[in-house]
Amino acid sequence: MTLARDTDSLESERLILRRITWSDLDYFAYIHADPDVARYIGAGHPRPRGETERWLGDILASYATSNLGQLAVVRKDDGAVIGRCGLSDAAIAQTYDDGAMRKGWFFSAQVPDGIPVNLLPELGYTFGRASWGQGYASEAAGCVFNYARISLPFRDIMSVIHADNRASLAVAQKFGVTFTDQVELAGRPFDRYHWPMDQTTP
Ligand SMILES: CC(C)(COP(=O)(O)OP(=O)(O)OC[C@H]1O[C@@H](n2cnc3c(N)ncnc32)[C@H](O)[C@@H]1OP(=O)(O)O)[C@@H](O)C(=O)NCCC(=O)NCCS
Repeated sequence: MTLARDTDSLESERLILRRITWSDLDYFAYIHADPDVARYIGAGHPRPRGETERWLGDILASYATSNLGQLAVVRKDDGAVIGRCGLSDAAIAQTYDDGAMRKGWFFSAQVPDGIPVNLLPELGYTFGRASWGQGYASEAAGCVFNYARISLPFRDIMSVIHADNRASLAVAQKFGVTFTDQVELAGRPFDRYHWPMDQTTP
């Protein structure tokens, strides 16, 4: 799981990462509605509140069913939630038509019936614009990656990053990710990266 069942939170120098709850809905609805935040996540459009509400329901379900899910990132200084980071319950189709990209889904529950998939945790991060550029995403991603390598049973973690999302790639590259292929998620192509599980974080 992003957090083992007996663990309530992760901690880094400036951040606490804890499970998301319904009380976080206002914050995530606010940042998901920001076009600059939404541009490179999912389908890329600012999300109406109802969509974030469904997303939050999927997160809570994946805590329970697959032991995965994004975590709320809380700044220690003032206790404010500033973003999210964690391992999503993602699925990648095992087969694809000639010339087409493999399809993927951020939640395995969304895979249409009859499609064989590989289930892979996806390390992702999204922060409110007010907190960009201060190293928070790198710190949170490092915290989750370190914890996953040391305490979780995964041999493989991926990230899917839109090819134009240079800030996100800059974060992932700090940890030595390597490009593997492209996948289609939410109807558009994303680059897929593999996290080196045998490497220490910077
Ligand atoms: C991607 C995101 C999480 C980064 O958050 P952040 O807190 O600003 O990240 P950090 O400060 O830890 O690091 C960002 C790095 O990207 C670099 N960067 C930022 N914008 C950049 C750009 N346009 N081109 C190249 N590099 C860029 C920064 O210089 C920094 O690298 P550095 O530490 O070597 O200077 C944030 O921009 C975000 O929430 N975006 C919207 C949601 C999103 O796209 N999530 C990722 C989905 S894959």
